[in-house]
Amino acid sequence: MAEKRPESMQRIVNFDLANAFIDEQVALIRKQVGNKKVLLALSGGVDSSVVAALLIKAIGKQLVSVHVNHGLLRKGEPEQVVEVFRNQLDANLIYVDAVDRFLNKLDGVSDPETKRKIIGGEFIKVFEEEARKLDDIEFLAQGTIYPDIIESKGVKAHHNVGGLPEDLKFELVEPLKFLYKDEVRVVGDALGLPHGMVYRQPFPGPGLGVRCLGAITRDRLEAVRESDAILREEFAKNGLEGKVWQYFTAIPDLKSVGVRNDMRADEWCVIIRAVNTSDAMSATIEPIDYSLLNHITQRIVTEVKGVNRVLYDLTPKPTGTIEWE
Ligand code: XMP
Repeated sequence: MAEKRPESMQRIVNFDLANAFIDEQVALIRKQVGNKKVLLALSGGVDSSVVAALLIKAIGKQLVSVHVNHGLLRKGEPEQVVEVFRNQLDANLIYVDAVDRFLNKLDGVSDPETKRKIIGGEFIKVFEEEARKLDDIEFLAQGTIYPDIIESKGVKAHHNVGGLPEDLKFELVEPLKFLYKDEVRVVGDALGLPHGMVYRQPFPGPGLGVRCLGAITRDRLEAVRESDAILREEFAKNGLEGKVWQYFTAIPDLKSVGVRNDMRADEWCVIIRAVNTSDAMSATIEPIDYSLLNHITQRIVTEVKGVNRVLYDLTPKPTGTIEWE
């Protein structure tokens, strides 16, 4: 039976309530783990970042965070994890550059579900290898939140390193397990994490791996990462960050002819997707202003290598899904 949020628990809607929650959890974490070490897979997403910040406050360097860069993160994300956790919060952070390893495994694989399985499976393997290098770890912290518990089919399997082998079954530390997403964000804010990290839009576990459609190639992966960064920058500049639920670019495995420097040139296209939803089960598109679309298009075709066209996806869910694969 799934655990239930205590009925007496107040909804965390402001800093006072967040601080009270933090104080209570700090005491509980210290009581649970004593002077032992705790391991955490720190993706840089909202939930794992808030868990990390909370545990750092409670037990400092007894928390060992592992950040696996699988090469499928958005532009600037691995750097931000290192900057915030290692440089600003002085965390015990292990940064694993696994980019080549993931891209080699994914080489030539075009089926979306197989890609997801490879990314999830390889993630557990890398994490397991790091865990085996460490001594005296007795606990595993996880960014499980209440919707993960009540929704039988959560979309967050990548965060929960539940696929670890038997001999690495640590006792779990899950301080956010009764919180809803909005409460996690208030707690993250109260812990002093950067606003952009706490209020960032949802990002799938397999990352850009499901936005570089078909078999992933390094040139298209860079093109989707760069075009996504331009889209995010322009949304932020134009007041759309935090207003639009999810927005990104995807790159199909499709070249078309175009003209560059007076020469015909076969290049890739990228697709802009921007949607609003309350539960991700259905979604409507954000009607992006034409002049902004035009400006983003101009930037992408001039700044992103190998891209000569930009398409705008007008399809709601259903019949489209939010992601393209
Ligand atoms: P779809 O594409 O099904 O997406 O309309 C609904 C929401 O789920 C996210 N999504 C994923 N998240 N692993 C994840 O962690 C996945 O494999 C995955 N596929 C889709 C998607 O970004 C959207 O927010």
